Amino acid sequence: MANPDQTETAAPPRPELFDFHGVSMTHYFTDNWDNVQNFQAKPDDILIATYPKAGTTWVCHMLDLLYFGKSSPKRGDSLPIYERVPFLEIYIPVFAPGVELAEKMTTSPRLIKTHFPVQFVPKSFWEQKCRIVYVARNAKDNAVSYFHFDRMNNGQPESGDWPSFLQRFQEGKMAWGSWYDHVKGWWEKKQAYPKLLYLHYEDLAEDMDREMDRVCSFLGLCPTEEERHQVKEEVQFDAMKKNSMTNYSTFSVMDFKISPFMRKGKVGDWKNHFTVYQNEQFDKEYQKKMMNTTVRFRTEI
Ligand code: A3P
Repeated sequence: MANPDQTETAAPPRPELFDFHGVSMTHYFTDNWDNVQNFQAKPDDILIATYPKAGTTWVCHMLDLLYFGKSSPKRGDSLPIYERVPFLEIYIPVFAPGVELAEKMTTSPRLIKTHFPVQFVPKSFWEQKCRIVYVARNAKDNAVSYFHFDRMNNGQPESGDWPSFLQRFQEGKMAWGSWYDHVKGWWEKKQAYPKLLYLHYEDLAEDMDREMDRVCSFLGLCPTEEERHQVKEEVQFDAMKKNSMTNYSTFSVMDFKISPFMRKGKVGDWKNHFTVYQNEQFDKEYQKKMMNTTVRFRTEI
């Protein structure tokens, strides 16, 4: 499963955003569209779906440890998170296509990651009634994290400066589209599809024991106290930041001199970025855009 190409250093050119079936996307995540849409999910596959920067890696690592933490040799010691949990729609020159990585997986269940808005998920996941774990993060911290990510990731569009990025975030002109549409779309799906667990980054940060209980009960897992303790230790921010299998230091398209992937891992970092005016304006727009949904975030104004 190891992919030697992933250590190459050549950075691909920064992609442009374009409208793809009504969602802002880049070609690195649409070029393999037909293969992605024809992907054959298995009934025990688990899809981890998120808007970018909502805590994807955190939850991917947690699930991988819950299922395979006791494997020998420990796969978490030698396989980076993007190989343990393939990224379904990725199709970027220096990297193995996500579909291929997923198809080659021999472990069961397969854990698969996507940033797709709900309407882009390949139909086999619904047909096979796969379990899905969705992670949402409050809009302001999500925007800040996404800004720093676009600054350092050559596979993403240019970030521009913070004010222009924040404007685009509110307009949904981001790769994978609008944060608002994403969190609302998946929330609505959850009402009709019981095999979907909707997690919040802020809840994970507040009480990992409680959230791990929810995850385990959803997945039908019963780890021992010792196993739970081990997973809890390994998914702590500092542990993941140090761990080269989770901190993306092996992923060549990112420039860590600009910003680390495991940046701050905090709730409320938006307060260090938003001006008073930006915050007031954001709150107004937020209320308008979120009035037609019942999904709530604990850091809401
Ligand atoms: P920040 O940029 O705010 O630090 P994703 O995996 O979806 O790309 O999300 C990355 C964000 O989740 C980053 O946020 C990263 O620091 C944070 N993150 C990753 N692992 C974490 C952990 N164990 N605890 C808290 N935050 C974590």
